[in-house]
Amino acid sequence: MWYRLIRPLLFRVDPEAVHQLVFRLLVAGQSVLARRPPYTSPTLQPRLWGLTFPNPIGLAAGFDKDARAPLAWPGLGFGFAELGTVTAQAQPGNPQPRLFRLSADRALINRMGFNNAGAAAVAARLARLDRSQHRTPIGLNIGKSRVTPLDEAIGDYLTSFRLLAPHADYIVINVSSPNTPGLRDLQAQTQLHALLSAVQGANAQLPARRPLLVKLSPDLADEDLAAAVETIERDRVDGVIATNTTIRRDGLAHPIDEAGGLSGAPLRSLATQTIRRVRQLSRGRIPIIGVGGIFTAADAYEKIRAGASLLQVYTGFIYEGPGLATALSRGLEQRLARDGFTHLGEAVGVDVVA
Ligand code: FNR
Repeated sequence: MWYRLIRPLLFRVDPEAVHQLVFRLLVAGQSVLARRPPYTSPTLQPRLWGLTFPNPIGLAAGFDKDARAPLAWPGLGFGFAELGTVTAQAQPGNPQPRLFRLSADRALINRMGFNNAGAAAVAARLARLDRSQHRTPIGLNIGKSRVTPLDEAIGDYLTSFRLLAPHADYIVINVSSPNTPGLRDLQAQTQLHALLSAVQGANAQLPARRPLLVKLSPDLADEDLAAAVETIERDRVDGVIATNTTIRRDGLAHPIDEAGGLSGAPLRSLATQTIRRVRQLSRGRIPIIGVGGIFTAADAYEKIRAGASLLQVYTGFIYEGPGLATALSRGLEQRLARDGFTHLGEAVGVDVVA
């Protein structure tokens, strides 16, 4: 039904209009969806940072930027959802059009530019959420407001962190979106250390500190990735998300001339390579959430074997439809059984030579 009827219809309409339509349906239907528990099995349940995930498939940041449909995600099979990116100040994002479908390449290009309601509004919405209804972990991804100069970025992240951390099971520092000018420069060692140590300071002041993750770009040169991982370890960051979208365009069958971050199938192997490299550089000490171009269980398994303990999807969800998360969980379970693993954790990083 999805492939034959719904997707062809939706794919005729402007991608952002479709997103808004689908999103409105999800917001309206979320209390019904909330009654459906996500797929789970003892083989699949990751335990990380004191949290138990029903399955390893999460919704990637950017889909539910304002935390408007948090109850819908478990009902669609997701084992966790990352909300945001949220910035300290509300902002409209870039002018439309800013989202482009590359169907022949199973890809998207976006330059949304962190359109969001701002940290205070999102925190207020999350404060009203009945967490007893929400069974799966919620991550919150924070970025820099566009109006804030780069040298004042730390204060901006701290504002968002203080407002949002009390409502989050984990917090992600996003320094890898290509759509906020200069943002990715914060991945450089000095800037990253200043930012992470400040956020960790605020974290230590919470009644219970939150797991802190950093989301990295797939476009870092190897020495820059190594420096970032070193800093991440030094600042006792709890995990890495690899990766955000790429500004590269190689490997596209039908390239289009639009600026922004490329996601989906053409990102898959670049993201997997980044996961593998982070695993090697950290000698398996930092848990990794793997994201980029996951459409099938084979893609998901590849990232687990490269070192990811959890996974996320965005573009695959657009192309494959609402059954994707559960299909990935079931397919992973089959592959684990085939290869003689009794738990997902045993397969993490097996393809990586130290
Ligand atoms: C994103 N992504 C993203 N990431 C992030 O950290 N904050 C954000 O606000 C967004 N926004 C966003 C919007 C759109 C339209 C897309 C397609 C993507 C990146 C996303 O979370 C993910 O890292 C990449 O898209 C790679 O995964 P997929 O899409 O290949 O599964």
